[in-house]
Amino acid sequence: MEWATTTLALYGMGGAALATSLMTLRRRLELSHAKHASLAGHARTARRLAALVPFYEYDEAQFFNSDGAPADVAARRRAGFERLSALYATRFAETIRCSTEAAASISDLQFTDAYRVPFQYSRYARARLPSAAFVQSSNGVTVTDLDGNRFYDLTGSYGVNVLGYDFYKEAIERGAARVRALGPVLGPYHPLIAENVAMLKEVSGLDEVSFHMSGTEAVMQAVRLARYHTRRTHLVRFCGAYHGWWGDVQPGIGNPLPAHETYTLRDLSEDSLRVLRTRRDVACVLVNPLQALHLNAAAPGDSALLDSARRAHFDKEAYGNWLKRLRAVCTEQNIVLVFDEVFVGFRLARGGAQEYFGVRADLVTYGKTLGGGLPIGVVCGRHHLMKRFRGDRPADICFARGTFNSHPYVMAAMNEFLRHLHTPQAEGLYRDLDRTWNERAQRLNQRLRAEALPVAVANMSSIWTVCYEQPSRYNWMFQYYMRAEGLALSWVGTGRLIFSLNYTDADFDAVEDRFVAAAKAMEQDGWWWGNPALTNRSIKRAILKEMIAHRLFPERGGNGH
Ligand SMILES: Cc1ncc(COP(=O)(O)O)c(C=O)c1O
Repeated sequence: MEWATTTLALYGMGGAALATSLMTLRRRLELSHAKHASLAGHARTARRLAALVPFYEYDEAQFFNSDGAPADVAARRRAGFERLSALYATRFAETIRCSTEAAASISDLQFTDAYRVPFQYSRYARARLPSAAFVQSSNGVTVTDLDGNRFYDLTGSYGVNVLGYDFYKEAIERGAARVRALGPVLGPYHPLIAENVAMLKEVSGLDEVSFHMSGTEAVMQAVRLARYHTRRTHLVRFCGAYHGWWGDVQPGIGNPLPAHETYTLRDLSEDSLRVLRTRRDVACVLVNPLQALHLNAAAPGDSALLDSARRAHFDKEAYGNWLKRLRAVCTEQNIVLVFDEVFVGFRLARGGAQEYFGVRADLVTYGKTLGGGLPIGVVCGRHHLMKRFRGDRPADICFARGTFNSHPYVMAAMNEFLRHLHTPQAEGLYRDLDRTWNERAQRLNQRLRAEALPVAVANMSSIWTVCYEQPSRYNWMFQYYMRAEGLALSWVGTGRLIFSLNYTDADFDAVEDRFVAAAKAMEQDGWWWGNPALTNRSIKRAILKEMIAHRLFPERGGNGH
């Protein structure tokens, strides 16, 4: 009898263990279905593969014909390159001299210099078209370098510049005057903080606010709060989305450690919703609405522009519907929905992405432009999620401090920004915003098509990316032609153009003319030489072969034959 009971118990336990294993296996499979097929969707694999990529570079001849272009085309490219190089050396002489000198001691500059174009071309390009990283002033929609050259600014200062540089200059000055009597006193607040809080609650539609020093920190705090209140471990981010450089939100290339408590799921996917419905360890879902422009892809940068596979297309309705479904699942599963509006907040609409897409989040992070030109990160959220301690367990706290949080000068510049949002002028600015920028993008595309240039832009309101329509290895050269035409880009090159909203039609016409002129010059110099045998896939395959050969036979310069 006793034996029978024991056997039964063992069977029972075995059955339960099997059921648990099957369940775990099912969850694993669900998770793996919810990953995007690309490397960006597989952070761990991407990191492992990245460690295997060998350095190699093209010699001078290959630099001009790495796509197998005939000698006459390579010669045209070389002549164009030398013309540009001579122009850089004379027109940007002082700016380049300062940049080169500074780069030796500024690690950030060394990094951005090296990753401006694909590494195979980088050293040769850098030597002859050195980066010019200094500017002396800004005015209207332009910036001026150390040689006195004025450029139309398409960098948008990483997205900070929404209202135009002159606005921020004034906001900082007016703000500084209002807090001058207090100076840099930290800890106690300047009274104008109360007005900031009231305005932030109004624009976000949320109950409480916390101030931080950068967008990265705001995201860290939002995730920490979500973990604290849900008592769950994992955050979900969508494939390719940037949320700052904190380890947990950057699980792939760029972070020396794996992020164990992060799931990277596919955007706009039923499988991802299934994971959210079935996992019990998800504390929050982070959404960077900018992904709507290039779903499941990392922020486009020219250093990865080895072919013409870059694609972008914004469908507001489809993305809005997705956010609504995500909202419903998060509500159903008590998962905290975090909108990371550090980039898009106040750029798409006065009430940010929540207003623009008609979806409410539980926590919202803001940054960039909200500081009125000074560094900032803000979390807005519901009461119960913002609380950092528990009434019934005094030692169980969610700690978050920061020496410079709520700095009077930052709060004052922010105050100027938020007050401006409440003016009729700002209301007018947001009216018809999308129409204005969509029409501008369309016009430019029509012109590029009419001129038979293999370039097109895609946009999400005032945030644009340049796409290339014909397979080519040399699209990254376009950034240099744009600079020569007086268009300033950030170090990611043509991957991201950010316009401030004070661009007038006349300003934009000038940008359009220069953009087309740059594309024509690039075309004439042969960089877009059309080889029917060349496809994006064949380019990728050739590069993979080069990498494997250099990995296996480094001593033979990658020549495995
Ligand atoms: C969506 C998003 N989140 C967070 C950050 C990080 O902000 P910061 O650079 O101020 O740390 C950025 C910066 O680009 C961002 O675009």
